[in-house]
Amino acid sequence: MGATDVLSGISSWQILLIVFVSSIILYGFRPFYRWPLRHIPGRTPKWFWGNLMELRAGGPVQTHAKWAQEYGPVYTSFGGTRPFVFTDQPDLVRQVLLQHSSRPMFPTIWQGKEREFDKASILAVRGDKHKSVRSAWQPMFFTGSLESYSALMNEATDVLLLKLAAAAKKNRVVDLYKLIGCMTLQVVGTTAFGVEFNAQELDSADNKLGKEEQQAAQRLRDAVAYIFTVSVFAFSAYSPFIFLFPFMAPLLRVVAGVFPDRGLLKMKRSREIVIDEVAALIRKRRLALNEEADGGKQDGGEGLREDTLQVRTGVAPGSFLDLLMSAKDRTTGRAFTDLELANQAFIMMLAGYETTAAALSFTLYLLAANPDKQQLLVEDVDGFGRDRVPGLEDLERLPFLDACLKEGLRLYPPAPTHIREAARDTEIGGYRVRKGQWLGCAVYSMHRNPKYWKDPERFLPERFIEGAEEHEEGVYKKWLPFGDGVRACIGARFALMEAKVTLVRLYQRFTFELEAGQVPLKIRNNITISPEHGVLVRAIPRPPTLQREP
Ligand code: HEM
Repeated sequence: MGATDVLSGISSWQILLIVFVSSIILYGFRPFYRWPLRHIPGRTPKWFWGNLMELRAGGPVQTHAKWAQEYGPVYTSFGGTRPFVFTDQPDLVRQVLLQHSSRPMFPTIWQGKEREFDKASILAVRGDKHKSVRSAWQPMFFTGSLESYSALMNEATDVLLLKLAAAAKKNRVVDLYKLIGCMTLQVVGTTAFGVEFNAQELDSADNKLGKEEQQAAQRLRDAVAYIFTVSVFAFSAYSPFIFLFPFMAPLLRVVAGVFPDRGLLKMKRSREIVIDEVAALIRKRRLALNEEADGGKQDGGEGLREDTLQVRTGVAPGSFLDLLMSAKDRTTGRAFTDLELANQAFIMMLAGYETTAAALSFTLYLLAANPDKQQLLVEDVDGFGRDRVPGLEDLERLPFLDACLKEGLRLYPPAPTHIREAARDTEIGGYRVRKGQWLGCAVYSMHRNPKYWKDPERFLPERFIEGAEEHEEGVYKKWLPFGDGVRACIGARFALMEAKVTLVRLYQRFTFELEAGQVPLKIRNNITISPEHGVLVRAIPRPPTLQREP
């Protein structure tokens, strides 16, 4: 029997089925994606899943650290059928970040307005639009602005200190990650918007919030925490499918819109809570501006005041949102739309809260786990003074504090991987890659690779002190927790300042003892990393300073 006889015995729908099944099988291997990368070493991808199962089992950042040592500085790995070319070699990481400025966006489940909302983000926009949006963000991080925030950061730390003192009195264990998360949310509220989110008041036994305020604060805090802690690839049953079958995204979005599962509804609700909050802030500020223009009294917005911890109700003049509202979009010559404004405020709230909370918690964990280093930091802080409130300039004169934070960011970079899309056909470490290829910078792996660091697993802040061998060899060439190039973290100075203010104030009053069973620390891998079960410590009050005889 010949091939024609076999084919003539098959009906057309059977042929269609065969074509469909073969396409799916073929799609699972993506030969056209894999072929151009065949010369680069790397993991053999499994059908459809690529290397996702291995990443899931071993933890993404730890697995990449293993692969980088196994395959060398440039290697491939597959997120589903999508190939990535990864590098953890410092020069190559810099080359990628400096030469390729677009961050590819993963397909998402959101549709309609929600999708438009995400597309307006500083993280997503490209080219001139990105330059325009970024320059509107910039004034928040000028030295003058930062100076005015230090008082607000100190106020937020006051509340944290009170909570720790209460816990210490009862010898109670506290979760520093949770407490600090509330504090950084308060800092974002007061510095970026001039608004009190009341996040810290919630856990205080003597909080003065009314029932409604309490519920609103709780809702906001839970929503922000949820958005960050739940994996973007797994919060809904639809999420992995949309990642594995990006070509089916339009269909999956429609199906998910009609039959949303619980995870999707919870994420949608959490996003709505945060978006509604920022939309209300924008409305309030507009109202105040209109009244001002009419010569009426200004509503809310008391300005970035330095001396109070009162509940603020409106967006402060001079705050991030206020500056953003008066900025011009250089690409259109007009003001930013409400959707664009709301998205920047949304990103500000999320970026400003979680990454800094993680950086601080990891550093405090490392210090508690290394009491000898903690003691050196205490001495550095005592040299500054136990009763002084640090301002921006003071923070530059605390070298060991600076070194501890940098070493914390080395061992636990809160944003552990940076992804770029190749802007043109190019070469990475001698391997050719095509335009459009997704490139991964494995920063966590780079920060722990023994090829680049001495004793990489140890907490050795001294490497960041001027004069130390590693410092003199060029420690900053291989340390990139804030990225590089035009997409580098815009909030880096703000984050470092907030973290330093907090550390100084904490160590003026306390040292910390780590609860047993937390070494090594379990980390949660999402877009960012954070301590999976928090950082559990006992705060030990430091004895008061002895007064010297006159
Ligand atoms: C320790 C804390 C922080 C760390 C480790 C961190 C890390 C990073 C990194 C690595 C990037 C670049 C990612 C890439 O290359 O794709 C980034 C971007 C960004 N960060 Fe941060 N960040 C921190 C705090 C903050 C804060 C406090 C803010 C806001 C107040 C902020 C706002 C942003 C924004 C808006 C971008 C996007 C910039 C752009 O695309 O032009 N970050 N951050």
